[in-house]
This record gives sequence, C-alpha cells and structure tokens, in this order.
Amino acid sequence: MHIDKLEKNWAGISLGIAGLFVTVILGSAFFHGIHAPSNVETIDSAKLHLSAEFAEDKLGVERNPNGSVTVRMVAGRYGFYPKELTLPAETEITFRWVSLDVIHGVHMPMTNMSTMIVPGYVAQVITAFHHAGDYPVLCNEYCGMGHAHMWSNIKVVS
Ligand code: CUA
Repeated sequence: MHIDKLEKNWAGISLGIAGLFVTVILGSAFFHGIHAPSNVETIDSAKLHLSAEFAEDKLGVERNPNGSVTVRMVAGRYGFYPKELTLPAETEITFRWVSLDVIHGVHMPMTNMSTMIVPGYVAQVITAFHHAGDYPVLCNEYCGMGHAHMWSNIKVVS
C-alpha cells in the first residue's frame, strides 16, 4: 500500500502534537500536582442543621482574631441564608457556602466572584471588597422553578 510522503509527514506531526499534549497533562497534573483551585471538603447536606459549622445560629458573619472575616451561608431552593449581610471593605473575607438540596451557584455582578455550590461539599472563596456599596448575590445554576428569584444582598461598608 502506498502512502503519500506528504500524508506521512502530516500524520507524524498530528501524532507528535497528540504526544505533546499527553506529556503536558502527565507532567503538570500528575508529576507536579497542578490542578484547578478547589477546596475539597465534604459535608452531609441532609444534616446541615446538626452540623458544628452550618447550624442556623452559626450562619452569617464571624470576625476572626486576626481581623479577617469568615462568612457562612447556606444555599437552598430558593434563597441564600442569611438573606442580608453587612461586611467591611478592604478586609480579607472567606466565604464558605453549602447547599441543602441541589446544585446552586453564586455570582456577584460587577465582581469576579463566582463559584458552584455542590451538595455534599463546602465551596470556599477567599476575597476582599474594595468599594463600599450593595452587592447582589445571584444563583447562576438552574436549580428549579424559583431559580430566577434566588438571590440575596451583601452590603459592604468602609
Ligand atoms: Cu439556586 Cu438557581
């Protein structure tokens, strides 16, 4: 069987590129342990009300001894709880979210804040607000009939 020289060359280049990709994946993901930033922490979504961290009286804003702030919120059809929060500007804020039912998402328009909230896991984002004002918190994962009404509000004060 005759294979044209040009075809052979291109087949070689394609295989070379495929090989390069496999080498990059193996080299970065497996040998150097590089992967997308994520906080793999599991939690029983059916027992949040009994958990040490996400029981109703533990939700909201907590000031840490070093001046930073931790915010604990529960997402559930159809709202983020607590509904209203006040946070300081120019302060390190650690958001910790859990879902009590299905997959939800958090999006704050005009910021780069966005994460999924997958039931069974704690979603954590560390950030800071540089400008005072009202920041809506919207759900950006379709979660049911009330999805469009799933929102909350964060007031940032300087
Ligand atoms: Cu929650 Cu959409």
